[in-house]
Amino acid sequence: MPILFKNMEINGMVVPNRFVRSATNDRHADVSGRVNDRFIAVYESLAAGGIGLIITGHAYVTWNGKASTTMMGVHDDDLVPDLRRLVEAVHHYGSKIVMQLNHAGRQTSSSIIGETPVAPSAVYYKLFEETPRALTEDEIEGLIEAYASAAMRAFSVGFDGVQIHAAHGYLASQFISLYTNKREDKWGGPLENRMRFPLEILRRIRKAVGDNYPVLIKLNSEDFLEGGLTIEEGSQIARALSREGIDAIEISGGMMESGNHIAKTGIKSEEDEAYFLNNAKMFREVINAPLILVGGLRSPGIMERLIEGGEADMVSLSRPFIREPDLVNRWKRGDTKKADCISCNGCQRYRDEPVRCIQLDKNKS
Ligand SMILES: Cc1cc2nc3c(=O)[nH]c(=O)nc-3n(C[C@H](O)[C@H](O)[C@H](O)COP(=O)(O)O)c2cc1C
Ligand code: SF4
Repeated sequence: MPILFKNMEINGMVVPNRFVRSATNDRHADVSGRVNDRFIAVYESLAAGGIGLIITGHAYVTWNGKASTTMMGVHDDDLVPDLRRLVEAVHHYGSKIVMQLNHAGRQTSSSIIGETPVAPSAVYYKLFEETPRALTEDEIEGLIEAYASAAMRAFSVGFDGVQIHAAHGYLASQFISLYTNKREDKWGGPLENRMRFPLEILRRIRKAVGDNYPVLIKLNSEDFLEGGLTIEEGSQIARALSREGIDAIEISGGMMESGNHIAKTGIKSEEDEAYFLNNAKMFREVINAPLILVGGLRSPGIMERLIEGGEADMVSLSRPFIREPDLVNRWKRGDTKKADCISCNGCQRYRDEPVRCIQLDKNKS
């Protein structure tokens, strides 16, 4: 599998292999969003396990962008010392760490943030049975600045880069989708207007951190919802971001309301793996930026072929590393059996508890 263990450079960040831990909200932080010792221990185990690039779980850029009780935050300067400890712990093992920046938009609830959630438009969110308030234009400008300030915090404590979360139905994903964006001003309507929000975030982050700092994005390729983002639209946004100088695009898809699309269950055979590959092929035709593929990857042989065939530059996994943080080192040692994760999504079941593999719990009992 030599190609999987070759360096990859992203705007000066040299990643020691092609494996990415896709952003995973492990729910180990304090309720204030602070990274603590148990949070750092998870990241240490991932880095010790040989993952080249670890992307943090989504970190909220303003308090009202918090999606769950014990996720990490980056909205306040007080959080900075513990974020620095996290970076140092990961760098100790030679891995790179990128912070995923996010705002939940409508995919949160007033019980979590203490006020009515905000969104591009007041579109009812059926999972939490709540209708958000539409943002004013001034508030949109303020939020874009908040992404830039958050990126500066990450930059200042030594994160190797940042990733804008524009997938899975969170705020940036809400702006690009007609399903959630019904605005009639410059932030809504035609695709050029709807993509303004992520593009402005990219521009404002660049202005803050400079040209020589990796800024990545995780982007929905489509929403899998009637009236939502289509792959044709997703590809056009990817092209615009690539032209604007994004340093890498991680392709994903689905919103929380879309059903079994973001983290698909039932990945059994090799044919079930790499479930965004067809969409990735469409992105590949229109972007110059490196492409990171996520979604159901379990077999190292498949990952090797994807990189060798030029269909992806890096492979990104989430659930397999919850079950086996040392998976990359296992494969490196020559045990190339596919990941043990059976894609049951038991690890997503308990919203307010730290994420863990319930299959391992079963094996222990
Ligand atoms: C427990 C859990 C938490 C997740 N948290 C995030 C997150 O914070 N940000 C994000 O972009 N995706 C998140 N995801 C989605 C994963 O990054 C990934 O896109 C998806 O699980 C498919 O990859 P996999 O098949 O390797 O698990 C999460 C997934 C799981 C299972
Ligand atoms: S509970 Fe364990 S086996 Fe099931 S999806 Fe999560 S990590 Fe994989």
